[in-house]
Amino acid sequence: MRIHIEKQEQIARDAAQKYVELLNRKPEAVLGYATGSTPLGLYFELARLNREGALSFARATTFNLDEYAGLDGTHPQSYRYFMNKNLFYNIDIPIENTHVPNGINTDIAAKYDEAIEAAGGIDLQLLGIGNNGHIGFNEPGTPFGSVTHVVDLTDSTRQANARFFESIDEVPTQAVSMGIKTVMKAKSILMICIGKAKAQTVRDFILGEVTPDVPASILQLHPDVDVYLDPDAASLL
Ligand code: GLP
Repeated sequence: MRIHIEKQEQIARDAAQKYVELLNRKPEAVLGYATGSTPLGLYFELARLNREGALSFARATTFNLDEYAGLDGTHPQSYRYFMNKNLFYNIDIPIENTHVPNGINTDIAAKYDEAIEAAGGIDLQLLGIGNNGHIGFNEPGTPFGSVTHVVDLTDSTRQANARFFESIDEVPTQAVSMGIKTVMKAKSILMICIGKAKAQTVRDFILGEVTPDVPASILQLHPDVDVYLDPDAASLL
């Protein structure tokens, strides 16, 4: 695991350069994307670089980590809506090349892994981290061998994400998420963690034991991971 500690603005710029390098080397790259507030700076930077011609997504394919169960893509809090608004509509990717797990037909979840395989596997997977160490929506205790599946969201995750909804009651109780095994199959992983609230989790997943209790700790076993931390997130290392 390569650890980079930088200011938030610099993280967005450096992380974006990984996409410039990848897409110029392999224009048909398969990209794994994440939601949450953490990647917004990177998405803004990718759109800017795309506008300026530094990279093109025209031949890329994308797979998002997760989606709320019960929300379709027109719901403003769905992750499909988030991705369209914050990235896909701002870059030159054909929208049919973009994939988000189906939050309505959740019984087809495992087919998502087949679609990723059929596309050639993910070249670069972007990750954020939940306050409890989750990646995607793989909550503590999720088996490391899991593929895309329906998950029950913990109360703490629903509380943390309630800020995007009118009230906690509107936050779905389930989601569809790539599994830990799905994430670990990505050729390269780029993780970004920002803010003091993540500091203990960051310490646990980087320095602690590899355990399903801290889902992100599995990344210690992946051969190609870059972790970008701002000074607050890195403050307990
Ligand atoms: C959600 C997403 C995760 C994301 C996490 C952290 O739970 N499923 O993929 O990493 O939120 O979000 P934020 O970046 O807003 O802290």
